Amino acid sequence: MISSEPGGLRGFGDVEEPLLVRALRGEPVETTPIWLMRQAGRYLPEYRRVRSQFDFLTVCKTPDLAVEVTLQPIRRFGFDGAILFSDILIPIEAMGLQVRFNPGPEVDAPVRTAKDVQSLRRPDPTVELSFVLETLRLLRRELPPGVALIGFAGGPFTMAAYIVEGESSKDFLLLKSLMYREPLLYHALMEKLSLVVSDYLSAQIQAGAQAVQLFDTWSGILSPRDYREFVLPHVRRIVERVKTPGVPFILFGVGTAGLLEIMVETGADVLGIDWRTSMKDARRRLGPNLPLQGNLEPAVLYAPFEIIRERAREIMEDVGPQSAHVFNLGHGITPETPVEAVSELVRYVHEDGRRLRELAAKGGGM
Ligand code: CP3
Repeated sequence: MISSEPGGLRGFGDVEEPLLVRALRGEPVETTPIWLMRQAGRYLPEYRRVRSQFDFLTVCKTPDLAVEVTLQPIRRFGFDGAILFSDILIPIEAMGLQVRFNPGPEVDAPVRTAKDVQSLRRPDPTVELSFVLETLRLLRRELPPGVALIGFAGGPFTMAAYIVEGESSKDFLLLKSLMYREPLLYHALMEKLSLVVSDYLSAQIQAGAQAVQLFDTWSGILSPRDYREFVLPHVRRIVERVKTPGVPFILFGVGTAGLLEIMVETGADVLGIDWRTSMKDARRRLGPNLPLQGNLEPAVLYAPFEIIRERAREIMEDVGPQSAHVFNLGHGITPETPVEAVSELVRYVHEDGRRLRELAAKGGGM
C-alpha cells in the first residue's frame, strides 16, 4: 500500500515504526529514507523570518520557537526525520561556560587548566536543559507518525575543541597540545564531557527521541592511532550508557576516511559518512549489514537538477539497494542552498530508492 505522506510507503498496521527508524536498524525497507544535517536553517526564508525577530539562542531555548523551526523543513520537503533544533554547544552553557554565536560559537573563558576542568558542572538535563526535553515532547505530539524524531549531541572531542580553543579553529593546536602534553587532564575533560553527553542523550530518548546522532565533527583531524587512544574509549562509553533497545545510535564525523573501522568499535549502530569517502569504499570496508548514512557533497545542491539526480543515484547504487542506507549530505547544508534543489533531492531519493529495490527484487539489481 502506497501512502503519499512524507515517509513514503507504510505498512498495514498503524503501529509500524517510521521508515527512517526501520532503515537505521538495518531492517528491509520499501524505499530510501532521507533527512539532511542542518535541515532547519538560514537557507529557508521561513527560518530567516523567525531569526529576524529572535536571536539564535532564544530560538534554541524557547520550546515553541524551536518546535516551529524544527517543523519548517518537514512541512516544506517531507523529510523522513525531524532533527531537534538546538546546537551542540547548548549543554556547554549548562556546564557553566558562557557561549555566544557569532554566527559560529565562541566561549568566553576557554578551559585550559585543571581548575577549569574541575569547575565544569555536570548538569541534570531535566533541570538545566528542560527546554530541550520540552521541545522534544512537543515535537513528538506534533509530528506525523511516519516522521522520526532525531535527538543529538556533540561528540566529546568536538565539544572539547570549542571549549579549549574558545572558537572554531583550523588546526586545533591548543586542543592537540593539551592532548599530547597533559594527557591526564585531557582525559579528565573528555570523561566529564562524556558523562554530560550520556545524561543528555538518555534524557532526550526518555523525552521521545527515536534515534540519536553524535556529531563528532572534528574527530577526523586525528590519526587513526590517536583516535583510538584519545576518542574511542570515550565514545564507546557514551554508546554503552545511552544504548536503548530500538533506538538507533548514529555516529558522524568529517574527514573520517581513515577511521571508519575504528569508529565501528564504538558500538554505534550506524555510521554517518562524509562526502570524501565513497559509499562503495565504505560498504566494502564495513560489510553488507552495517547501516550507513550519507553522503552527498553539500555543494552538489548548487548544481543543475540533472547532476543532483545523477550523484544521488550513484550513492544509492554504491551503497546497494538491499543494504541499510539513510540518505543524507556528507556534512551540513549550506546557507545559500536553493530550496528547489532540496525538494528535487527528496523526491528523487524516494522515487529512485523504490526503483532500485524493485529492480533488485526482479534479480536485475546488485
Ligand atoms: O541539523 C539541524 O537542522 C539541527 C540543528 C543544528 C544546528 N547546529 C543549528 C545551528 C545542529 C545539529 C547543529 C550541530 C552543530 N553545531 C555542529 C555539528 C555539525 C556540523 O555542522 O559540523 C557544530 C560543529 C556546531 C557548532 C556551530 N553552531 C557552528 C560552527 C555554527 C555556525 C555555523 C554557520 O553556518 O555559520 C553554529 C550556529 C548554528 N547552529 C546555526 C544553526 C541553524 C546558525 C545560527 C543562525 O541562525 O545564525
